[in-house]
Amino acid sequence: MIYLDNSATTKPYPEVIESFVKVSTDYFGNPSSLHGIGTQAEKLLSTARKQIADLLKVKSAEVFFTSGGTEGNNLAIKGAALANQNRGKHIITTSIEHPSVMEAFQVLSEQGFAVTYLPVDATGRVSVVDLEKALREDTILVSIMHVNNEVGSIQPIAEIGELLKQYPQILFHVDHVQGIGKVDLSLIDAGIDLCTISGHKLHGLKGTGVLYIRQGVRIAPLFSGGNQEGQFRSGTENVAGIVALAKAMRISLNNCVLYAHKLKEIRTVFYHGLQEIDGVQVNSPVDGAPHIINFSVPGLKSEVLLHELETEGVYVSTTSACSSKKRTASKTVLEMYRNQERAESVIRISTSFHNEIEEAKQAIDAIGRAVAKLEKVMR
Ligand SMILES: Cc1ncc(COP(=O)(O)O)c(C=O)c1O
Repeated sequence: MIYLDNSATTKPYPEVIESFVKVSTDYFGNPSSLHGIGTQAEKLLSTARKQIADLLKVKSAEVFFTSGGTEGNNLAIKGAALANQNRGKHIITTSIEHPSVMEAFQVLSEQGFAVTYLPVDATGRVSVVDLEKALREDTILVSIMHVNNEVGSIQPIAEIGELLKQYPQILFHVDHVQGIGKVDLSLIDAGIDLCTISGHKLHGLKGTGVLYIRQGVRIAPLFSGGNQEGQFRSGTENVAGIVALAKAMRISLNNCVLYAHKLKEIRTVFYHGLQEIDGVQVNSPVDGAPHIINFSVPGLKSEVLLHELETEGVYVSTTSACSSKKRTASKTVLEMYRNQERAESVIRISTSFHNEIEEAKQAIDAIGRAVAKLEKVMR
């Protein structure tokens, strides 16, 4: 099996699963309980919070646990907009965000917020000049993803952060779900106020995540309840998952240093290999994130090619995992190239530190065979 769908989800590290089992078995208490068993769980929770804060180079008091990227994005965006609407109702994002951001903006627009969607160029990047032009007196929030989940384009987060430092009334949210552990980003230097991270994209467990909320930033909670997580996120914490998340993040950030070179080499093998296959158009920009390569075979439906590759033991995806079942065209590829056929025939390859160069070569051969076979059938 050659697993190339790591942007959909990653395989948890064995150490991560061991931590989860140990904590679930031996420290099952509710961290809000006052007795000793609860206190033990609370201790584990605060140790994990501190470990994650150190890895992100932020304060423990700025780390809030969520159930993943979707919740983090909703909490950051709706929470920031609702808590600050007395200062203005204009909010900005890009046209290629993950559905958890897009749909949150859609809901806010139905509630009377004015939304600006920044376009991207053919490399899948927004322009800082466009953003500056879009800013208004009543702008309260800018939300821009770090690494695009479909094509891997990297947004100029540091430059955007620099610009927004001149507008302290505007909150800056970054969806860092595909960026963390793959492309460096300093939350502090970039002046980020809110940042979303998901556990299962970095070899942690599903149902875990972090929302970084800079100290002093006000957001409205989405859930009513016991006021856990500094009142921002009610609900008993998933202590075992959180301890496992701290471990996954530490290992992933370490692997990012150890295997950065290998990941780039694998990408190069894919990039050049794909360009040599007749009928294939590479959609990802040359300077995209090291773990995502997206391509189209216009005229061939993504799903058909995906299943053909599966018969060869190669696992890829079409658009983002959550959109792929809807069988819609890739929004990002459509925004970049304005070509429906190209957007309807996308395949995303997403790698992790555990893939090998040899696997990339085998996958390229399999893609070449699959495309040739399907094109023959179609003719
Ligand atoms: C960029 C991006 N943001 C948010 C999410 C949602 O994360 P989760 O699956 O943890 O809800 C994803 C998942 O694919 C993603 O790629």
